[in-house]
Amino acid sequence: MKDIQLPGGPHFAYRDGELHAEQVALSALAREHGTPLFVYSKAAMLAALGAYQRGFAGRKAKIFYAVKANSSLAVLQVFAQAGCGFDIVSGGELERALAAGGKPADVIFSGVGKTRAEMQRALELGIGCFNVESEEELDVLNEVATRVGRTATVSLRVNPDVDAKTHPYISTGLKGNKFGIASDRTVQAYRHAAGLPGLNVAGIDCHIGSQITESAPFLDALDRVLDMVAAVEAAGIRLQHVDFGGGLGIGYEEDNQPPQADALWKQLFAKLDARGYGDRMVMAEPGRSLVGNAGICLTEVLYLKPGEQKQFVVIDAAMNDLPRPAMYQAFHAIMPVREAPNGAGGTYDVVGPVCESGDWIGRDRTLATQPGDVLAVLSAGAYCMSMASNYNTRGRAAEVLVDAAKATLIRERETIDDQLRKEKLLPAG
Ligand code: LLP
Repeated sequence: MKDIQLPGGPHFAYRDGELHAEQVALSALAREHGTPLFVYSKAAMLAALGAYQRGFAGRKAKIFYAVKANSSLAVLQVFAQAGCGFDIVSGGELERALAAGGKPADVIFSGVGKTRAEMQRALELGIGCFNVESEEELDVLNEVATRVGRTATVSLRVNPDVDAKTHPYISTGLKGNKFGIASDRTVQAYRHAAGLPGLNVAGIDCHIGSQITESAPFLDALDRVLDMVAAVEAAGIRLQHVDFGGGLGIGYEEDNQPPQADALWKQLFAKLDARGYGDRMVMAEPGRSLVGNAGICLTEVLYLKPGEQKQFVVIDAAMNDLPRPAMYQAFHAIMPVREAPNGAGGTYDVVGPVCESGDWIGRDRTLATQPGDVLAVLSAGAYCMSMASNYNTRGRAAEVLVDAAKATLIRERETIDDQLRKEKLLPAG
């Protein structure tokens, strides 16, 4: 039936009618660990990383995996072992990165709302760089650094005002967004930073959005960032590195394939060279493009529910496990783990058990399925488990990482005791 290339292929592919992650049959994993179950392919992660490494070969450049995309410890461990640093946005992500084997010096701290406590901990550990998002934050970071007797290495996140042509919730480089320092304030902000004794100004950074599927917004943004580098350096402040953020999309659907990381970076380095900045240290913060198509979510069909206007497949995964369709109307392919015999399919909305009409995972999908079948929701490696919640008091799913023929449980399913542990009843009387 399927001679198609699945998102995540060749690491997720049908063999003898059974969907496999590398050499492991997914139906066996569902039987052993239950559903919903996230399954990741280590080879798929390393292949995605390989495209960046090819693009960066021979350059002064480093990859900082954006922890928010998938912050499970074993996933971070794979990237730490492969030589990546980490891009974090909270004190919690910092502790995760360290627990997974990351070195503080290989951590960069992004985000618009860093607290004093988070700054202090990061300074005491000696992280590599703070990506500062406002002049107010420069002052607070200077104050904390001075108090603890450290110098904070900083880069200023600038807002290049380009349209990343992605969903408005995940577009970050436009004037109306809360992120970064406006281009007309950039030189002033750098002067301010350079005058603060607790800070060491090292670089510039930008991040224009996520799930970007074309090269043009990246190339435009780089031009604008380099214009700002020129202006800042004309003011006498030398910048050692350019951090170009993350944002490269993945193919969730066959007909929407973004550029490969190596091809994109070839164009970006050509621009850096042409404009005379090829000697600078280059940093990138990819998240989704490293893990998105390296994971799937297995879910069991509970009911086929005929409706008046639509037919529904009710599954045991929901918006608390897979929040992207509800939040961004995102598309995830849904496939049976056992190829169904031809011709028996219907058109269904695939929905979860959560009590909201927004709890849909796929709309108008052709599927041949029945209760008890296991389905795979594809492209679920990024921004699924890391955004999962306990809504409707649903425990978060278990996770398995596959490496060739070996499957390791990397997170146990959350139990009701896990969920109730921190709560207290009111005292009697
Ligand atoms: N660096 C910064 C400063 C970021 O804000 C982000 C993502 C990244 C790097 C990584 O971007 P990526 O390479 O993953 O596109 N939950 C949304 C995506 C939110 C992205 C937020 N920032 C989704 O599920 O589509």
